[in-house]
This record gives sequence, C-alpha cells and structure tokens, in this order.
Amino acid sequence: MTEKFSRGLEGVIAAESALTYIDGQKGILAYVGIPIEELAEHATFEETVFLLLHQRLPTRSELQKLSEELADQRPLPAPVAAILKVLPRQASPMSLLRTAISVLGHFDPQADDTSPQALQAKAIKLIAQMATLTAAIGRLRQNQETIPPHPTLSHSANFLYMLTGKEPADFAARVFDVALILQADHEFPASTFASLVVASTLTDTYSAISAALGALKGPLHGGASEQVVQMILEIGEPAKAEQYIKEKLARHERIMGFGHRVYKTYDPRARILKKYSQKLAEQTKDTRLFEIEQIVEKTVIDALGSRGIFPNVDFYSGTVCYYLGIEPALLTPIFAVSRIAGWMAHMIEYVADNRLFRPTTRYVGPPLGHYIPIDKRA
Ligand code: CMC
Repeated sequence: MTEKFSRGLEGVIAAESALTYIDGQKGILAYVGIPIEELAEHATFEETVFLLLHQRLPTRSELQKLSEELADQRPLPAPVAAILKVLPRQASPMSLLRTAISVLGHFDPQADDTSPQALQAKAIKLIAQMATLTAAIGRLRQNQETIPPHPTLSHSANFLYMLTGKEPADFAARVFDVALILQADHEFPASTFASLVVASTLTDTYSAISAALGALKGPLHGGASEQVVQMILEIGEPAKAEQYIKEKLARHERIMGFGHRVYKTYDPRARILKKYSQKLAEQTKDTRLFEIEQIVEKTVIDALGSRGIFPNVDFYSGTVCYYLGIEPALLTPIFAVSRIAGWMAHMIEYVADNRLFRPTTRYVGPPLGHYIPIDKRA
C-alpha cells in the first residue's frame, strides 16, 4: 500500500457522504443537492433537520410530526437541569454544554444503541435539548432563572424565548432560523470528524457528541465567532479599523472570521449573514459594528484575498447574534445548537456502513535500539 502523508489530513477523503456538497473554489454549498441560498430563502430549520436526517425534503405532515417531536423533547430531565445549576456559572459555556450533554446520556436508555431507529430518535432528542441547554446556560450566566420551553413555538423562536423570556418578533426569529440553517452542516470539519472517529468505535452517542463539542470549542473552529465580536468591540470605531487590522497582520496574527480550509473564495454563508447583519444594524439604528466589519473585511481582502483568504461563516454570525441581543460567549454553543443536526446526520449515515477510523503515523523517532538499565543511563 502506498502511504501518503497529509498534515491536518488536508485533501484526504475520509468517508463518502450524500449530505453536503462544497465547491471551495466557486463558493458553492448545498445540503442534499439544494443550494444553501435557496434553503436560507425558503426553508425552516425544522425542514433542514428533516432534509439532513432523511436526505430528502419532508411532506407537510412529516414536517408537522417532526416539529411536534422536537417540541416534546425540549424539557430537560430534572437532574440535568439541577446539575447545571451547581456547575460554576462563569465556566466556559462550551465546557458546560459538553458536561451537560455527557450527563444527558445517563438518562437515555438508548444511549448505547447504534441501530438506525435509535440514532434517529437520539437525533431529535439531542437537537431539541442542545437548544434548551444552551438557553439555560445563557440564563444562568446572567444569574437569571431558567425558562421552561414553550410547547408550540418554532425551534428558533422557542430558543430566543427560553433565552430572553419574551416571544421574539417575527423578523428576529426568522434571522435566527436562517443562522441555524446556514450552520447545520458543513461536510467534514474537525467537530464532525471527531464525532465520527468516536462513533466508529460503536461507543455511545453522547460520547461522540461530547467529542464534537470539544472540537467545536476551539478558536480555529467554532470558537472564532466569539473572538470576531470581541475584536470588533475592541476596535470600537470605524476610524480605527484599518490601522488595527494592518498592525495585527504586520505582527503575523490571524484575523478571526477569515480563511477556511475548503473555501478559497467568499464563504456563501457569510454572504447571506452579511445581508442580515446589515438589515439588523439598520433596524436597531446601531450601524457602528457593521461599519467596522466592512472596513475589516476590505482591509483583510486587500491584504490576503490574493492568497484565498476571505470572510468565513464566523465573521458575520457573531454580529447577527450580537444585534439580536445575544452575548458573544453564547455564540459557539449556538453553533452547536445548529450543527448537532449535521453531526447526527453524519453519524446515522456513517454508522449504517461503519468502519473503525484508525489511520497511521509516519514514524520519525529513533531507530530500533535496546532497553538501557537505569544505572547505565547517562
Ligand atoms: N488571518 C491571517 N492569516 C491567515 C488566516 C487568517 N484568518 N487564515 C490563514 N492564514 C494564513 C496562515 O497564517 C498561513 O500563512 P503561511 O503559509 O504564511 O504560514 C496560511 O494562511 C495557511 O494557513 P493554515 O492555517 O495552514 O490553513 P488552514 O487551511 O489550516 O486554515 C483556518 C484554516 C480556518 C484554521 C485558518 O484560516 C484560520 O486560522 N482562520 C482564523 C480562525 C477562523 O476564522 N476559524 C473559523 C473557520 S470557519 C468556521 C468553522 O469551521 O468553525
């Protein structure tokens, strides 16, 4: 067998999948063949969940059934809600979420069942509960009481309701829904791959999703959006943006929210979120952050566009949530609220034709030698 080494597995095809198509040169993204722009324009998050889990769009009655199942699964088991309350409130929200997901596994009798039926059932449960957990973590961080889920609101409207205590305006709920649709799947990023590496051992689903959350937390993956908002807030005013970025680049620092392993052009998700970020800025009459972003975007593209470095999804998702009144620390957990759909869809697809992930390394250590007794060592 010819062994080929690729740092970071770049360019390595590690699985076959019918879920997500990306053309990183042309900036095309499609779920099960449907362009992301059409889903963002016409679909709901619930429809997108069905599309990913079943690899086709639902009928009206299937969509109704899925929406009801998601709503039924929203409440947390009481001990999980209680454990959240005793964890340190200022711990990283992603670490809290990872712990909570792990605890949830103890209350699911199907946790270890890897049959397609059990994985589908766990997908619904986890999609519903990731939202409830994230909203609860958000409330507890502010020393506020958690809010029980609303039984009839949509997934997105219910999330905003559980976070703020108020039923959101239609536009806010729609923008949040679009943000969830755009992040629901993205082929084989570190988090999805991590979850499949774990799932391929046929361990329990909660271990695999905990691994995915651990990977998503990192600043090179889902952690970037929070850092983007921090950076924009630190810049503070449009007049300072260009200089700030130029100095960062001169120090060879990475600009969060730019660059992508697959896209060498503008990320199509960022293009859609930019439009909503602008609309929200105009609606809230607070265009300062959006103006700063425009200058940051132009300065980075002028400097690095020729090397294929453009805004990625995390660049505008941060300000969209910021304008919706969501604190930056919740941005990565919200990414998980969406991406859990993709993680579970990939797991259902992969485990149906499972093969253990077990790559190899290129050995670069010393040649074969001998054990040296301790009193003979230099
Ligand atoms: N700012 C400045 N330089 C960059 C950036 C950036 N954001 N991204 C890549 N580069 C440079 C990098 O310094 C390197 O330069 P050189 O060849 O001179 O050393 C070159 O581009 C290649 O970088 P790489 O890290 O080998 O490329 P990669 O394919 O591993 O990078 C990435 C992908 C996302 C890790 C990287 O672009 C990055 O660190 N971006 C900032 C973090 C970020 O926004 N992450 C979110 C990614 S999209 C959402 C998600 O997946 O969660």
